[in-house]
Amino acid sequence: MFDSGVGGLTVLAELRKLLPQAPLIYAADLAGLPYGTKSEAEVAARVCGLLGRMSERYHPRAICIACNTASTIALGMVREVLEVPVIGTVPAIKPAAAMTRTGVIGLFGTAATVRQPYVDRLEAEFAEGKTLLRHAAPGLVALAEAKLRGEAVDLAAVRAEVGGLLDAPGGEQIDTVVLACTHFPLLETELAQVFGSQVRFIHGAEGIARRIVAITEGQPFDQQSGDLFIATGEVAGIERLSAQLAEYGLVRIERF
Ligand code: DGL
Repeated sequence: MFDSGVGGLTVLAELRKLLPQAPLIYAADLAGLPYGTKSEAEVAARVCGLLGRMSERYHPRAICIACNTASTIALGMVREVLEVPVIGTVPAIKPAAAMTRTGVIGLFGTAATVRQPYVDRLEAEFAEGKTLLRHAAPGLVALAEAKLRGEAVDLAAVRAEVGGLLDAPGGEQIDTVVLACTHFPLLETELAQVFGSQVRFIHGAEGIARRIVAITEGQPFDQQSGDLFIATGEVAGIERLSAQLAEYGLVRIERF
């Protein structure tokens, strides 16, 4: 399972519920975090290069890109170069369109995700006749990373990041919000406080977990030693994360 940081843990948590016996490796490209402010070329090069090297070292049976930014930019490229099945994470526009009653859907992602043609295609295919208001909320990534490291979340900072969506024309009619970045469900409590109880949030984690189960169906798993967290860059500061990672079953930490 691959992400730029700890956001993909929201997908890993869903997968654990369905496949508790499967050994997992969680890879965080902390040296490349954040992806959302990088160019398409930079993200594609990092993701293809790292997943190629990681596959050679660890030989996974399947790879999940648990990152909307990386998936909407590089999923096709990664699938072309790797031989294992690759599952992507793309904005949950389809279920949001089925859920909305007002017909107005909000979508938060990174700046890179919200401008992707991949998202245009999802909107055209699944949200015809609805209004989809997209908003880049890159600051939520750092807030989610800090929260997982035990820091308090400043609600005013969350409000400042997402306020633009509520203030957009039609924003007051939003009843469904797509969390199109795997970091954002880590802040769902705070987001719910900002949006109020009339708004429902949706993300793809559960659906992705089900897809991984389907792809690995019938395969035997043997979970023995506790799972591995690997990170690019300095792992020196990672002890602040180790208790949280252990809660996700990631008991070994290595630098990649
Ligand atoms: N978790 C990533 C996503 O789903 C992005 C965070 C970042 O900007 O690196 O888009």
